[in-house]
Amino acid sequence: RKNIVIAIDGFSSCGKSTVAKALAKKLHFVFIDSGAMYRAVTLYFQRNNIDLADNDAVLEALENIHIDFIPNPEKVQIHLNDEDVSEAIRTMEVSNYVSEVSAVKAVRTAMVKQQQSLGKKRNIVMDGRDIGTTVFPQADLKIFMTASPQVRAERRYAELTAKGEVLTMEEVKENLSHRDHIDSTREESPLRQAEDAIVLDNSELNQEEQLDFVVNLIKEKI
Ligand code: C5P
Repeated sequence: RKNIVIAIDGFSSCGKSTVAKALAKKLHFVFIDSGAMYRAVTLYFQRNNIDLADNDAVLEALENIHIDFIPNPEKVQIHLNDEDVSEAIRTMEVSNYVSEVSAVKAVRTAMVKQQQSLGKKRNIVMDGRDIGTTVFPQADLKIFMTASPQVRAERRYAELTAKGEVLTMEEVKENLSHRDHIDSTREESPLRQAEDAIVLDNSELNQEEQLDFVVNLIKEKI
């Protein structure tokens, strides 16, 4: 039997990666955070002052970027050219620019290719924006996650302040709506719900309930 692919898409800070991670752990699948890849590219572009309008510079930069996921007992690390950037990609500086970078066609082409090859022979859970629509249109199960804007902002705020980042709730809300807007209006594989995706609104569900919801779907569908 072929390998199994579970795609989890949705807006920023809906808790996609929390569910995806828990699910991968339970099923012994590989978890792949596609957003982390776009964040790593963004970090590289920022560090090297790559002009998004300069197509040659973008293509050259993409050739010089190597992203790896390194499984650790504790958590999966993301490496950018052999440097562990797991923390560095989570700053507001990266968050405020990642959607601009992700809208560039050459960036998407390069990332989609890598994502497809990561999911080729293994059972995976991948979360992102276009996994069910573009990366794996044949995924065995597609989930589209949503949550109310207030719930999303509160979760995101708690997550960032716990890490010591100093910012206001307003800034968090602004970043989320900024990214949602760019992500869903860009020309190149915009964020949208795949026709055959199942919606999971987790505004009022705890983590266990969300996991149960997905596990039940898997039992039904796969
Ligand atoms: O998932 P996360 O919020 O970390 O993703 C960061 C950004 O990367 C998103 O706001 C979006 O601009 C971009 N992204 C994307 N396609 C994906 C995953 C993420 O464009 N599959």
